[in-house]
Amino acid sequence: MDISDKRVVLTGAAGGMGSILAAELARRGAKLALVDANGQALEKVAASLVDAHSVTGDLSSASGCQSVARQCSELLGGIDLLINLAGVNSFAAFEDESAEKIELMMHVNLLAPMWLCRAFLPTMLDQSSARIVNVGSIFGSIGFAYFTTYSATKFGLRGFSEALRRELADSGVGVTYVAPRAVKTAMNSDAVNRMGAATGMNMDEPQAVVEKIIAAIESDRKDVYLGFPESLFVRINAILPRIVDGSVAAKNRIARQFAKGEK
Ligand SMILES: NC(=O)c1ccc[n+]([C@@H]2O[C@H](COP(=O)([O-])OP(=O)(O)OC[C@H]3O[C@@H](n4cnc5c(N)ncnc54)[C@H](OP(=O)(O)O)[C@@H]3O)[C@@H](O)[C@H]2O)c1
Repeated sequence: MDISDKRVVLTGAAGGMGSILAAELARRGAKLALVDANGQALEKVAASLVDAHSVTGDLSSASGCQSVARQCSELLGGIDLLINLAGVNSFAAFEDESAEKIELMMHVNLLAPMWLCRAFLPTMLDQSSARIVNVGSIFGSIGFAYFTTYSATKFGLRGFSEALRRELADSGVGVTYVAPRAVKTAMNSDAVNRMGAATGMNMDEPQAVVEKIIAAIESDRKDVYLGFPESLFVRINAILPRIVDGSVAAKNRIARQFAKGEK
């Protein structure tokens, strides 16, 4: 997809990757509806860009998503590209995870992209071409200990993206699933960063990941798994998961100490 002049809805636009992605899309001439719960940060991002509207909204409910979709449609007069980037994570032993946090992650990471796709799809299908981009995670292919709920939401998002892509194969609407490995943004708490350093976790700069997301959009990619060896482990885990069970066991014992707040 050529991004110039395209009407783009980007969620999570005030975040570590979202603010950079918004700027890169604007630089390529996109007309933007930028969505985030953090209204103050969002206003700042939108104010620094040409042709960018801000839509402050909470994506953790169906009604919140419907309201966001309605406002974006009114502001842009249609949509060519939907980028579902907003997300929340949690680093905790599953026995310590609260019911509220589990629900929140399911809502923001999985249901919100589904609700927004559902809201925009009829308009997109009326056009000759459009694209949906769902930003998942390597943890959406490799279930990661102490990110258990987060992994479940991203597995769901990957499955949704694959099924929807196949369902829309005879239409002009394409679906791209992008799975970054860990990225240096505020999403990762101090405990995650310390655990990452202790276990040798690779962490990318957000600018580099955003460039890969843009490249995936411009070349109409179906799915992209970022980083080596993580992208290889995705394939190994799909075919030989017992090998991965064994290779991550020692690191999981270290991670548990950070997840339980013992380190
Ligand atoms: N960072 C990583 O290591 C990493 C790795 C792989 C994949 N990803 C994925 O990449 C995406 C972007 O992550 P990031 O690192 O840029 O995270 P981030 O810096 O935390 O940005 C996420 C943004 O989403 C917003 N958001 C959260 N809940 C929302 C809600 N209910 N309604 C509306 N907006 C909401 C946040 O607002 P608030 O600040 O107000 O909460 C924040 O501005 C996520 O989907 C994430 O799962 C991240």
